[in-house]
Amino acid sequence: MTATAPAALTSEQIGALARAVSRAPSVHNSQPWQLLVRGTEVDLLERRDVVLRRHDPFGRDRLLSCGAALTNLELAVRVLGRDCHIEFPDRDDAVATVAIGRPRAVSARDFSLYHAIGRRRSHRHAFFHSRVPAGVRAALVAAGETTGVHVVAPAHLDKLAELLGFATRVLREDRGYQRELAMWTAHTRVTGDGVPEDAMNEEALPVAGLIRTGTPVPDDVVLAERLADENLLVVCTDGDTEAEHLAAGAALERVWLTATAKALVGSVITQPLHLTGFRARLVSELSLPGVPQAIFRFGYPAVPTAPSPRLPLGELFPDGPTGGLR
Ligand SMILES: Cc1cc2nc3c(=O)[nH]c(=O)nc-3n(C[C@H](O)[C@H](O)[C@H](O)COP(=O)(O)O)c2cc1C
Repeated sequence: MTATAPAALTSEQIGALARAVSRAPSVHNSQPWQLLVRGTEVDLLERRDVVLRRHDPFGRDRLLSCGAALTNLELAVRVLGRDCHIEFPDRDDAVATVAIGRPRAVSARDFSLYHAIGRRRSHRHAFFHSRVPAGVRAALVAAGETTGVHVVAPAHLDKLAELLGFATRVLREDRGYQRELAMWTAHTRVTGDGVPEDAMNEEALPVAGLIRTGTPVPDDVVLAERLADENLLVVCTDGDTEAEHLAAGAALERVWLTATAKALVGSVITQPLHLTGFRARLVSELSLPGVPQAIFRFGYPAVPTAPSPRLPLGELFPDGPTGGLR
């Protein structure tokens, strides 16, 4: 008996994959990814032309963002009821190739995470409350854990407050940095990328959003108390390779979608991690199990958050719109 080849994707199915990828979180909402569909294989391409010279000079957040998109892509394939195998090709632009296989049953977990994709958004506001049951916190940690990736709740919040307070003061005064950030917050409505002004919030936890010239910095003791009122998780990796940046982004998105599926909201902090020497200080002061790649804060919402814009779906495809996608 000869096995039949897996069926190619229809344009509706390609549209479902594109929508899932497009809703992934990304640094400054830059959406640094594209999709190349080749029969039953989909390449996730990294858009290296998306450059944040001041925020992300080495492109590590760009790869983390591609990792988040990869999680969404994988979930969307599984929810189409298809098997899915991921390879990491040794190619310059493709960070992963998703091989779509034969039909298979959709698991309840994949279904629930997939449906969280459209509801997940950066919530930079104060939380209504942060008393998250231990079992729920454990589920978030478990969602992120994978070979080489560790998700931990940081101890020593006084030290963390000291470091974050220092980073806030430095970034507030960094004119080049602030110019770049202003560019990424100015044009969102026109282009469909960038961070909308109303997605920022400096009243909650000053370090929760993107630090701007007017961001207040409470003293370290107050900041430590406010950090203690939130739930924090740090995504760490054993090493600091590009493959680990991708894996960290994929893990971060699994944690975030798990939180969303459990009616939690949150936001990500990577901004201070880019300061020279900051990661090393964090590892030693907080006794982290690896290199910190992102901090995730979460709790139950007091106010709703609007979705941020996205580029037209057609821009996801290097060869132009596929199947009438706009
Ligand atoms: C790798 C990465 C780094 C990020 N860093 C920050 C950050 O330092 N501060 C922040 O407020 N949001 C940060 N974000 C969140 C993005 O700004 C957000 O995902 C994007 O604006 C899209 O909005 P959404 O999450 O509501 O869909 C980061 C997201 C990713 C994936």
